[in-house]
Amino acid sequence: MTIKEIYNLAIEIGKENDFRGKEKVNEILKTKKDKFEKLSDTEKEDFDKESFENPYLDSRILNIADDKEIKRILVGIDIEPAEILLAKEIGDIDLIISHHPLGRGLASLSDVMDLQCDILNQYGVPINIAEGLMKEKISEVARGVNRLNHQRAVDTAKILGFNLMCLHTTCDNLAAKFLKDEIEEEKPERIEDLMKILKEIPEYKEAAKYGAGPKIFVGDPERRCGKISLTEITGGTEGSPKLYEKMAQAGIGTVVGMHISEEHKKEAEMANINVVIAGHISSDSLGVNLFLDELEKRGIEIIPCSGLIRVSRL
Ligand SMILES: [Fe+2]
Repeated sequence: MTIKEIYNLAIEIGKENDFRGKEKVNEILKTKKDKFEKLSDTEKEDFDKESFENPYLDSRILNIADDKEIKRILVGIDIEPAEILLAKEIGDIDLIISHHPLGRGLASLSDVMDLQCDILNQYGVPINIAEGLMKEKISEVARGVNRLNHQRAVDTAKILGFNLMCLHTTCDNLAAKFLKDEIEEEKPERIEDLMKILKEIPEYKEAAKYGAGPKIFVGDPERRCGKISLTEITGGTEGSPKLYEKMAQAGIGTVVGMHISEEHKKEAEMANINVVIAGHISSDSLGVNLFLDELEKRGIEIIPCSGLIRVSRL
């Protein structure tokens, strides 16, 4: 496969597993193009044209040093200059994939957060409330990533001549869909039943061995789950803490997330919403693995690093 083919496949699979549905996602892409047509020439120059084809701007090709056939890749949850040096040390690495966004992908992290509004809406939160509360959080995230050194790893890849890509929401969508299907099929009654389901997933089982397995952050094992929502697995990063009260009003009883801040935890507690944290790097691994299986199927060798718990489901 070429780098572009890997990237296209990631976007395609990301769309297929998007909670909004492929049709709705394509509609959003079209709206971006329509918006672009109405801009002035100078505004058009600055416009991120990748947004016509890619609904997940935190997932990108960041450097093409050599556009060759990709046979062996180094994949990690976080790729920093250290991992790129590691690739050099290992040798014969055709492409490095980072899960967490880098470069322009990191600068665009807030762009994918709109997805959360639609997911919240699917779980019963009125769209006006979801959009209103998320708007503030989205601009906060945009300002937060603004201060970061986006290009550090990208520059290292350029200097050392490595192909580099990041695949964030494309993979998180896969994790969210996988967990949703699993939980909806098993229909757990109590939090302990939900925990049992999570603990059987190989990535979480492995993470539990080193103390990072699924944990109950709010609630007790005996408490009933009520309606379980998967609102916090995909869509960039944490949403607004003010949402929990609205989620409770919409009938959500339990949230399954990757990670949660203290502020969010307190709000969930006050709203009587149970919070089960599946685990950050393990949940990231789950989504990345489901995509990597597609590459493995196509004959690509995978070398995991930087926290990635590689599990093949082939
Ligand atoms: Fe993550």
